[in-house]
Amino acid sequence: MKNPVNELIRQVRQLAGFPDAGTALQRICDYLRSEVDHYDWVGYYLAVPGERLLVLGPFSGAPTEHLRIPYGRGICGQAAELDSTFVVPDVTEQENYLACSLATKAEIVLPVRHNGEFVAELDIDSHTRDPFTQEDTVLLEAVCLITAPLAASILRT
Ligand code: SME
Repeated sequence: MKNPVNELIRQVRQLAGFPDAGTALQRICDYLRSEVDHYDWVGYYLAVPGERLLVLGPFSGAPTEHLRIPYGRGICGQAAELDSTFVVPDVTEQENYLACSLATKAEIVLPVRHNGEFVAELDIDSHTRDPFTQEDTVLLEAVCLITAPLAASILRT
């Protein structure tokens, strides 16, 4: 990472203050992707209440065909089902995986919870194999906490 984690978190907190939640999340995705070399795709999947379905929200990186993902499918769907962080150091070893780009080698997905309810996921794809460390977990867990009210406020249909 080019900057200390604390500095990245401070910037994310500042970006989260933008009045429109969708724009704030978009700026945060763009910021994280530009700041961290091994983040090649950064995006939010929003949980549709009562439907066991994720819909793509703000993201930064190459467009993906995976606009809607049912719970249980792929890494994102599995993380939603389990409501827990899912780290895949090498996507070729994960059978239940939805390929976004052939360049993707690793992925991390974290649940975003608002008032105890699972409302979204933060999904990061990397073109580097096995890139995620404890530093990423600290950063991304903080990002999830900061952005939870924003993700919860976006209309999910
Ligand atoms: N690879 C994900 C799909 C979403 S893209 O990475 C943006 C998965 O297996 O769920």
